[in-house]
Amino acid sequence: MKHINDVIASARHIFGDVNGGRPQNHIRRADPYGAGQILISTLRLSFIPCVFCIFFCFLLSGCGKVGVLPADNDGGVSGQEDRGKITIGLSQIGSESDWRMASTASVTAAFSSSAGYDLIFDDAQQKQENQLKAIREFIDQGVDYIVLDPVVESGWDSVLSEAKEAGIPVVVYDRRIEVEDDSLYACWIGSDFKLEGERACVWLSEYLESKGVSRNINIADIQGTIGASAQIGRTAALEEAVMLNKNWRIIAQDSGDFTTAKGKEVMTAMLEKYGSDINVVYAENDNMAYGAIEALEARGYKAGVDIDNGEFLVVSFDATHTGLQMTLDGKIAVNTECNPLYGPRLTEIIETLEAGGDVEKETYIEEEQFSGISYIGTIQVRNRPYTVTPLTEDLLSNRKY
Ligand code: AHR
Repeated sequence: MKHINDVIASARHIFGDVNGGRPQNHIRRADPYGAGQILISTLRLSFIPCVFCIFFCFLLSGCGKVGVLPADNDGGVSGQEDRGKITIGLSQIGSESDWRMASTASVTAAFSSSAGYDLIFDDAQQKQENQLKAIREFIDQGVDYIVLDPVVESGWDSVLSEAKEAGIPVVVYDRRIEVEDDSLYACWIGSDFKLEGERACVWLSEYLESKGVSRNINIADIQGTIGASAQIGRTAALEEAVMLNKNWRIIAQDSGDFTTAKGKEVMTAMLEKYGSDINVVYAENDNMAYGAIEALEARGYKAGVDIDNGEFLVVSFDATHTGLQMTLDGKIAVNTECNPLYGPRLTEIIETLEAGGDVEKETYIEEEQFSGISYIGTIQVRNRPYTVTPLTEDLLSNRKY
């Protein structure tokens, strides 16, 4: 005797999955296609019991041959055959940095077909207009969830209202959004970018103090994409630190859009104007740090920590493999992590929502900080100690991205 769930699963297997095997609350679109869509949805609801009745009669009559369910009907994880695929519309910012590539690899691997997902992936090439267009297409396609990494914080109210009206939950990750009504998204998970910046600045202040440097420190800030949470938080932290450290000043500030090429271009322009007056380069991500270091070296300058002897102290963020290699080589003084491995975190959220569970509205992820200078082992930020991990070859060889 087959367990009822097996019978139901067999029915789905033989008759096809009339509702994708998904709970009925997933038939929840407002009617983006007009009344026809609602009609189809209603027909589907009444079609399900009919299908099962026919199937049971078929079994009782002895004519039915209950097929043996394939052990793994889509190469998926156990239980996936019960619910059909979950369709995810994922709007990714672009491919501007090593961090971004690692993040894309993580999320696309997690939302795999074998894990029970149909992933519709869109690369917005760093343009919000492309993200808005992609989200509207996801709504039209009737995806089950929209997963969004927003290029900038503002400008999402209308499109997310449309998603809400269509009954599609939106999960935001990495960068944040600013919306009037926070019911427009299910939850956000990401970095505390301001904290990252504060940790970088406290490290810098500790380092300068340890070297007894009390003269004026001129800082060049190569910012990320203006309006992005990662830029807003990291820039704000630096500006606050400049207020606290009376001998610090920002003498140049411009956006390098988180890319190596723009980072190099901006650094070149800053060097033309200020040359060796610059002591510290605060690059708001690793790729812009690579670009800045290329620009420095092209002009015969050196990236290092000996600012009294004309070296440019480079502060960076992300802690990608190349960024950490440069940190180990002494070209980047301190590298504060921004962790890109969101795949498993996002699938956990989707699975919880799917099971009808509650998710935290906002979750900050824990991040690390690395330096080639080992004597600053701990720093105090927001009244809490944070470890600065001394970088080693071993640590680097085990780094995933
Ligand atoms: O949003 C995360 C930031 O965006 C990373 O620091 C950066 O490298 C990326 O492009």
